[in-house]
Amino acid sequence: MAITRASACAKAILLGEHAVVYGRPAIAVPIPARTAVVEVHDAAPGAGIGIVAHDLNRRYQRGACPVDSDGEFMLAAVEGVLQHVCPGRSCPDLEISVRSTIPIARGLGSGAAVSAAIARGIAAHLGISIPQDQLSELVFATECLLHGTPSGIDNTVVCCESAIWFRRGQAPELLPVGGPITLVIGDTGIPSRTSESVARVRRRGEREPEAVEALLDGIGDVVARGRAAIAVGDLQALGRAMDRDHALLQELGVSGTALDTLVAAAREAGALGAKLSGGGMGGCMIALATPQGAAHVEAALLGAGAHDTIVSQIEPSA
Ligand code: PMV
Repeated sequence: MAITRASACAKAILLGEHAVVYGRPAIAVPIPARTAVVEVHDAAPGAGIGIVAHDLNRRYQRGACPVDSDGEFMLAAVEGVLQHVCPGRSCPDLEISVRSTIPIARGLGSGAAVSAAIARGIAAHLGISIPQDQLSELVFATECLLHGTPSGIDNTVVCCESAIWFRRGQAPELLPVGGPITLVIGDTGIPSRTSESVARVRRRGEREPEAVEALLDGIGDVVARGRAAIAVGDLQALGRAMDRDHALLQELGVSGTALDTLVAAAREAGALGAKLSGGGMGGCMIALATPQGAAHVEAALLGAGAHDTIVSQIEPSA
């Protein structure tokens, strides 16, 4: 039996989360150490489409109802790609298995990666290739189910698989990277509900529009400084940008004790900069380390209560 495998990797927002929802730029990077992997094979004629979510220990069947929110979102990913690759044709009979090493609801793009892997797997199994921008649109549609009104940064970086400069409503730019960047991610173990933190910022903006605009502008400036630092491989300047971004996100009200504790631990262990990454109020933080210092930062994060850590390297662009 022919099995088609496809995958998509995690992502982290290096700079600019939340402000990106309001039109400021942001920088996101792929995290290849964590992936969602999908296997697709033909099912018996008439079996329809089944999804086995191994990590959740659940099985979902297209057309069956009711499903939980994970099933709803995976089936939506299937529906989206089917409409794209075989509109008007009879639906194939497929069994799709999904496995992921990306923690759910931690700001690492688990939903976008699962959705991208499903779309890639089905399309490849049917012998059809989906251009990257169209794949990103399909993934965006499932992100809307998960997060309400996402900026589009998660689907973009997950589908590009490169460091990107992203501004809502504009074509993403591949980010010039002047030197290697070593990142250490610390997971608080606390779910980060992006739609809640985005709603929190929105409510604050309604109450205090001028203060929030000033913070969002401040984040936009920091992202621009970070881009310049990345282009020339100036890790000290990038670290300062990350520290400043974290301070602005704290003022915006989307950090939390667990995130602040890990950020402080990373800095004490010699990180050049550290900040929350993603929606915040839980989820992950990200630290910039030297290649030699990464293990020490990782140990400090675990010592300070991190649930999990990931070390990831961004290579210079050619
Ligand atoms: O999906 P997360 O948790 O990485 O958050 C995305 C970043 C936000 O800027 C908070 C929301 C968005 O849609 O860009």
